[in-house]
Amino acid sequence: MKVNIPLKSVVDNSYDITIDTISKIHFDTKVAIITNPKVAGLHLGYLLSKITAKELYIITIPDGEEYKNQNSIDLILESLFNHKFNRKSLLIAFGGGVIGDMTGYISSIYQRGIDFIQIPTTLLSQVDASVGGKTGMNNSYGKNLVGAFHQPNTVLIDPYFLTTLADREFGAGVAEIVKMAVTFNKDFFEFLENADLKDPLILQEAIKQAVQTKADVVAKDEKENGIRAALNYGHTFGHVIENETKYKKYLHGEAVAIGMVMANETALKMNLMNEKEALRVKNLLEKYNLPTSYKIEDTRSFYETFYLDKKSSDSAITFIIPIGIGGVKISDEIDVGTIMCVLNKFGDFNV
Ligand code: GLY
Repeated sequence: MKVNIPLKSVVDNSYDITIDTISKIHFDTKVAIITNPKVAGLHLGYLLSKITAKELYIITIPDGEEYKNQNSIDLILESLFNHKFNRKSLLIAFGGGVIGDMTGYISSIYQRGIDFIQIPTTLLSQVDASVGGKTGMNNSYGKNLVGAFHQPNTVLIDPYFLTTLADREFGAGVAEIVKMAVTFNKDFFEFLENADLKDPLILQEAIKQAVQTKADVVAKDEKENGIRAALNYGHTFGHVIENETKYKKYLHGEAVAIGMVMANETALKMNLMNEKEALRVKNLLEKYNLPTSYKIEDTRSFYETFYLDKKSSDSAITFIIPIGIGGVKISDEIDVGTIMCVLNKFGDFNV
């Protein structure tokens, strides 16, 4: 005997991403702004001059990746229950990727799902993390292993927040912009080569193009069953670098920059990219003081650490390899010899 539940209806999760000064807005419901003390100290006054609500609460959790865990989730949930948030209430993620991922995750589980808005304050979260609905937290098994795809209702990207960003944080965001251009958009890459992203108007245009690129990819493959994996260009290698350096030496975007150079080296070995193209990518990263070299002490151990990446299954490691500039190949069939050859090159530290 069988009972069928027909659940074929298409849900419209479309939303807008606004790249502009935030407009004044009033919400006729309970709203919680979830942030950290650093962002609150710098920018909460500005946000509160724009956003009002029937009841408005501020929930802060400590700043840092090490707080992206169940403990912080529980603290935020407790606050929402204490303030009697209901299914019509709204959460606002106000901060970088950690705040965005956790707020999104909570909004996916609180009373089985409530609305949330992303207001990203770092360049990295403006061009990547706040768009596309990946939410979650870390646990003792690894990063982002618990979470959900849960799209925000809208994303408000206000370039004003970037005025206080430290140079390294800025560079880390540029790495993700370069990632979008190398994998999907040759014209955008050429624009970046000739642009100075420190110019606010040019930066705004670059944010727009990066977000448009990501939006197009997410629209094709929301749950990362295919092409969305290309957005992990630089990440397979970069995650190992972050792991080896205990998440202390490099910002995520910096490790991704080195990872992109390693992926390009793989592309060179596979004749998918030429020396000139690889050099252009390296030069662009170095223009924003991003690191492009790394000394691998133990290539075998580096290779084994790929398996800790959640995107790799037991038997296959997924690599994202550029095809020239503006194209990309996703493969879990690259032979060990090719990868070891790349890693050995970095073992010699002569790239
Ligand atoms: N940051 C990669 C993605 O959202 O798919």
